[in-house]
Amino acid sequence: MQHVTVLGTGVLGAQIIFQSAYRGKDVVAYDISDQILAALPQRFELLKQYYRQDLSDVTEAKLEAAIARIRATSDLADAVHDADIVIEAIPERLDIKQSTWEQVSKFAPPTTVFCTNSSTLLPSAIAPFTDRPERFLALHFANSIWKNNTAEVMMQPKTDPGVFDQVVTFAEEIGMVPIRLYKEQPGYVLNSLLVPLLNAAAGLWVRDIASIEDIDATWRIATGAPLGPFQIFDVVGMMTPYNLSKDSPDPGRRAFAERLKKDYIDNGWLGRDSGRGFYDYHK
Ligand SMILES: NC(=O)c1ccc[n+]([C@@H]2O[C@H](COP(=O)([O-])OP(=O)(O)OC[C@H]3O[C@@H](n4cnc5c(N)ncnc54)[C@H](O)[C@@H]3O)[C@@H](O)[C@H]2O)c1
Repeated sequence: MQHVTVLGTGVLGAQIIFQSAYRGKDVVAYDISDQILAALPQRFELLKQYYRQDLSDVTEAKLEAAIARIRATSDLADAVHDADIVIEAIPERLDIKQSTWEQVSKFAPPTTVFCTNSSTLLPSAIAPFTDRPERFLALHFANSIWKNNTAEVMMQPKTDPGVFDQVVTFAEEIGMVPIRLYKEQPGYVLNSLLVPLLNAAAGLWVRDIASIEDIDATWRIATGAPLGPFQIFDVVGMMTPYNLSKDSPDPGRRAFAERLKKDYIDNGWLGRDSGRGFYDYHK
């Protein structure tokens, strides 16, 4: 799969575009307007900085070669007409995803493989809106894909196993470690493991069972993990757990959201990227 089209050039789309091109693929970047596409060079400059900083074998020649392999367009037919694989990273709204895939189905060759990068929507809810459910599946990246390089490849009931294998190979070709999910699972593997851990830590804290530091130390020392759950909250940022917990039917989760807001968010302590979250990163 040499010809790659990425739909959506936001946070994740830009990363998938750049990483695929960096690993030698010819990439078409699609977004809904030329105005939005005009922001791409700026996103690539930032990504180039991260690659220089985080990867050991980066050269300017490799970074420039990646840029040269990327073409941008706001014409969907033009974007997908010779794609081997289309990867969709557009907003997390089922209606937008469904209508976009309906359109893509009209313009893509019958052999093109379709992947969604959705974090929370199941691919089986989108597959019927394509003309090829057997060639549709999830390919889910983690943020900062050049270093957090898992790619969760997840079947839906209609996915052809041969297509699944092709996408696993593609993920490897662009430098990812493929994680194979043979059945649909909300949250994939990562969040199926991580969310219960984070919720349990939050529960221990709001019930004043133990301190943040001791909860983290327990997890690190007893399992050998590099980060404890509150250090992970700091990496994720406070807004995501807040938004996911504030309207929960579980009173414990709502209490967690309230305390997050009062003690952290209202002070501007939004996590590691803001310099302070559960821990102070200024030091
Ligand atoms: N941000 C993350 O950490 C992360 C991680 C893994 C997966 N994801 C998934 O990736 C997808 C995109 O998330 P994001 O954070 O990059 O979002 P984003 O808001 O940063 O980017 C979305 C992009 O899609 C474009 N867009 C809007 N409507 C469109 C349409 N109809 N057709 C094509 N493009 C359209 C927007 O202009 C924007 O450039 C979501 O499904 C999300 O669940 C996000």
